[in-house]
Amino acid sequence: MKKRSLLIIDDDQHFLMALGDHFGMSGMEIYKATTGKEGLQICKKKLMDVVILDQKLPDVDGDSICKDILSYNDKSKIIFCTAYPSFESAERALNAGAYWYVSKPVDLRELTFAIKKSLRELELEKGLEDLSYAREKEFEELELIGSSGLKRELDRLIELAAGTDSPVLITGETGTGKTYVARLIHKKSGRKGPFVTINCAALPENLIEEELFGHKKGAFTGAVKDKRGLFEVADEGTLLLDEIGDMPLLLQSKLLSVIDEKKIRRLGDVVYRPTGARIIAATNVDIEGRAAANAFRKDLYYRLNVLRIHLPSLRERKEDIPEVADYFLKEMSKGKPFRIPEEELKGLMDYSWEGNLRELRNVIERAMIISDGLVVRPSRILNISARSKEVSLPSVAPPEPVGQTIKLKDLEKRYILNVLHANGGNVSKTARDLGLSLSTLKRRLNSYKAQTG
Ligand SMILES: Nc1ncnc2c1ncn2[C@@H]1O[C@H](COP(=O)(O)OP(=O)(O)O)[C@@H](O)[C@H]1O
Ligand SMILES: [Mg+2]
Repeated sequence: MKKRSLLIIDDDQHFLMALGDHFGMSGMEIYKATTGKEGLQICKKKLMDVVILDQKLPDVDGDSICKDILSYNDKSKIIFCTAYPSFESAERALNAGAYWYVSKPVDLRELTFAIKKSLRELELEKGLEDLSYAREKEFEELELIGSSGLKRELDRLIELAAGTDSPVLITGETGTGKTYVARLIHKKSGRKGPFVTINCAALPENLIEEELFGHKKGAFTGAVKDKRGLFEVADEGTLLLDEIGDMPLLLQSKLLSVIDEKKIRRLGDVVYRPTGARIIAATNVDIEGRAAANAFRKDLYYRLNVLRIHLPSLRERKEDIPEVADYFLKEMSKGKPFRIPEEELKGLMDYSWEGNLRELRNVIERAMIISDGLVVRPSRILNISARSKEVSLPSVAPPEPVGQTIKLKDLEKRYILNVLHANGGNVSKTARDLGLSLSTLKRRLNSYKAQTG
């Protein structure tokens, strides 16, 4: 895979060197700039994947150049660093288009997390994930989690699916583990080839077609050499067609004939080639409904629906939540004895988890990062995000400074601002929630304003 580029813009030379060395070793291509102007010059010449941006630069304020950075590459993930952490500065940065926010002095662990997160996001955005052999190792530990009856039923279906070559349809809300289960089936099937996925909702029709079928050299401008499509790449493996419900109708009929005839033709080619790819289709839309409304081909639906695995939402398997949360914690804490207190685990069962396992995993991950010590409290993250749907700022609670006590006054301020934020800036509701009179709350807020200037 191509190296990801990282630009660090900071006037502190030591900081630049240290970070440059550190992330250079992890295989990224490093660029450095000490002023905003210099940083923008670099962005102009080369697409930057991730930019670490200091809020206070000698020539400009960091947030003022976020827009310019994004104008050169709107996919850049900007990670903002500030020595003056305040709720307002976080908000300003995120509004300006920053992707993540860390406070200075920078905790390397936190920054590494932010970068990993950015890279993962970039991968997702690419819409197309070629999970090659290199990542096969990850699969070794795949297992289903939870202990309810649902899990046993799932285990049975997965075994069944792994034992045949017919298509499988996996349905379920986003984040319920469709991709995970598809990989699990691939792994258990013992197929030799790779597990490859394509997202049918993220790409335009002609690109999906080209990705799936490949092309012959000269098939169109830009087709400078022959290219194998995913049906061929996954010949001895598994092809996951993600978001199949959004596949354009024309492609649906092509897919149907591939499934029936087990052969494909590259775009612009005349010869047919055999493909033994095992097809797994996944969707989070109501595919029966679409088929009934003729928005999805009925014949294809019946063909895929032979083996159907429906993944329940977390709301439907509440009793599994504590175990799953604990599982994610163990998975991410890499042997360190992090723990989530019992009452917190129970509390998780009452939350709606619209993003299902993915959301739960993210919440645990973020709670771990901001925990000071080994006790992880997801409720701190949920209090912020659960109620702040309309202002969708990710994780604005500034992380706890490590190994440093916080003044009670500051803690109070942070808490008040978080509640205010969660209430979308509604001061009277915030006062009610906090049990303060409106005038007291206003006085506090004014004093915070005076502090930040
Ligand atoms: N059985 C499982 N055990 C552990 N982690 C899981 C399991 N199922 C899903 N996950 C995790 O939950 C998240 C969402 O799963 P994913 O398969 O991407 O969902 P979907 O494809 O339905 O949107 C991923 O981080 C995945 O690793
Ligand atoms: Mg998925």
